[in-house]
Amino acid sequence: MFLVVDGPDGSGKSTQAHLLADWLRRQRFPTADFRDPGATVIGEKIREILLSTAHEAMTTSAEVLLYMAARVQLWAEAIAPALKEGKCVVVDRWLSSTCAYQGYAGGFGMEKVIGVARDSLERVWPDLTIILDVDLKTAAQRLHRELDRIERKGDNYHSRVREGFLRLAQGRPDFVVVDATGSAEAVHQEVVKVVQKLLYVA
Ligand code: TMP
Repeated sequence: MFLVVDGPDGSGKSTQAHLLADWLRRQRFPTADFRDPGATVIGEKIREILLSTAHEAMTTSAEVLLYMAARVQLWAEAIAPALKEGKCVVVDRWLSSTCAYQGYAGGFGMEKVIGVARDSLERVWPDLTIILDVDLKTAAQRLHRELDRIERKGDNYHSRVREGFLRLAQGRPDFVVVDATGSAEAVHQEVVKVVQKLLYVA
């Protein structure tokens, strides 16, 4: 099973991705977890380029291509082998992020982003994408550290990111939106319920 936890900055998705991976391991499912962009040597280097505050000049199209390049590498080096070994794979962000950030908030177009993904990725969509939904104020309160280049894009951009995620999820049976304003434990329980449903059906 290929599972993705995604959502706006400050939605708590990294915490939830870790909690979900630990929960799956406790249920005795061999599980691998990765972050996108990252998890490979090339992906981590691309991540540095994307998030550096020195790169203010980067265009949205360049962002799309770089996020996609990191993802292609992550798929080939980490996700595909893990799935082949029969593992559950949990990924912190995926194509849904490029759709919401660059496609919707950045104006590149969600359909165009999906087109680039279809041309470059062996597999485009996971079995399940969990979108953690959070309002801007709660999200901002959770971001204590120094902000990266994307996080610095401002409230207008980030409210469009949230809207982008919700639009993308609308009417898709492989997407579930979870309210992420509660405590980490409360959100985790909701995430587990959603995944249990999928495991039960599968
Ligand atoms: P993370 O720190 O939440 O893992 O993600 C790094 C930043 O990159 C975050 O601000 C969201 C942004 N991002 C995009 O803009 N597009 C993408 O496709 C992905 C995966 C992340």
